[in-house]
Amino acid sequence: MNLNFFKHWLSDPATVGAVAPSSRYLADAMAEGVDAFEAIVEVGAGTGVVTDSLVRRHPSARLIVFELGDQLATELRGRFPQAHVVGGAFHENVSVPQD
Ligand SMILES: C[S@@+](CC[C@H](N)C(=O)[O-])C[C@H]1O[C@@H](n2cnc3c(N)ncnc32)[C@H](O)[C@@H]1O
Repeated sequence: MNLNFFKHWLSDPATVGAVAPSSRYLADAMAEGVDAFEAIVEVGAGTGVVTDSLVRRHPSARLIVFELGDQLATELRGRFPQAHVVGGAFHENVSVPQD
């Protein structure tokens, strides 16, 4: 298991909500279910298992990734330079146009 995932789970198990990242098989199945839109938003990327599947299966889509854990977000930025990784809570970092 990824050490940063485990550390984040230890510090805040309620927001992680799982004891381990998704498997590659589950990640691929999820990415396969995504239609080829111009942009894909992933909320709660963790260690990036699903991110990796999305990047491989939808290389031309713009990918915006949110991850609450600072350390995990830093890792994601290094690993997926083609994605726009936003660190922090999704609901505190998204603005919805009022009109
Ligand atoms: C169960 S893990 C899943 C990680 C990954 N998607 C996977 O399938 O392995 C949930 C992740 O969502 C993140 N998370 C929880 N609440 C969040 C929020 N409000 N905004 C952004 N990320 C959040 C947690 O930090 C954690 O990394």
